[in-house]
Amino acid sequence: MKKLIGYKIKTAVFISGTGTNLKNLINFSYKKNSPISIDLIISNIKKAKGLNYAKKYKIEKKIINLDNKNKSEKKIINILHKKKIKLVCLAGFMKILSKKFINNFKGKIINIHPSLLPKYKGLNTHKRALENNEKFSGCTVHYVAPKIDSGKIIIQKKIRVSKKDNLKTLRIKVLKIEHKLYPKAIKKILT
Ligand code: GRF
Repeated sequence: MKKLIGYKIKTAVFISGTGTNLKNLINFSYKKNSPISIDLIISNIKKAKGLNYAKKYKIEKKIINLDNKNKSEKKIINILHKKKIKLVCLAGFMKILSKKFINNFKGKIINIHPSLLPKYKGLNTHKRALENNEKFSGCTVHYVAPKIDSGKIIIQKKIRVSKKDNLKTLRIKVLKIEHKLYPKAIKKILT
């Protein structure tokens, strides 16, 4: 998928939590050389902190709990089509999307994961990396495929894990590079 000159690709960000990546992507979208605009925020959690950025930056938000996956995903697909969304960025979105949903937006859904995939797919990545005394960790932006954290890798960034690192320091360290990597990945696939 390549961007047309002069147009920004309409993008939706899906979140469940704090939304630091969302905030970072919004700021990135304002840059002149950014290929995207953020036009929609979807959260499955009503109280997700990241939803505050919808208000702050005047971006439309939808809260869809996904308890009834089939019905909720249909709803999301309708909204995405209606708003002409062409890219979906998952950023700390804690629900697994169905194969049907993913195939509907094939090659247009990407995710950021806080590990050097294929290592540490799923949850508690930092805890597992520390328990295994990994010398390196990092983050990965990848296309979303039906199997969790298994889609084609777009870009990765490695950092060194120090002996002094704990859950908190490692999480902060990795988040910091996530904020650099997500925009870079978007530029890579769209420009
Ligand atoms: C990030 O570490 C991301 O890689 C993972 O969930 C976390 C979300 O953080 N998928 P935030 O909500 O963007 O601050």
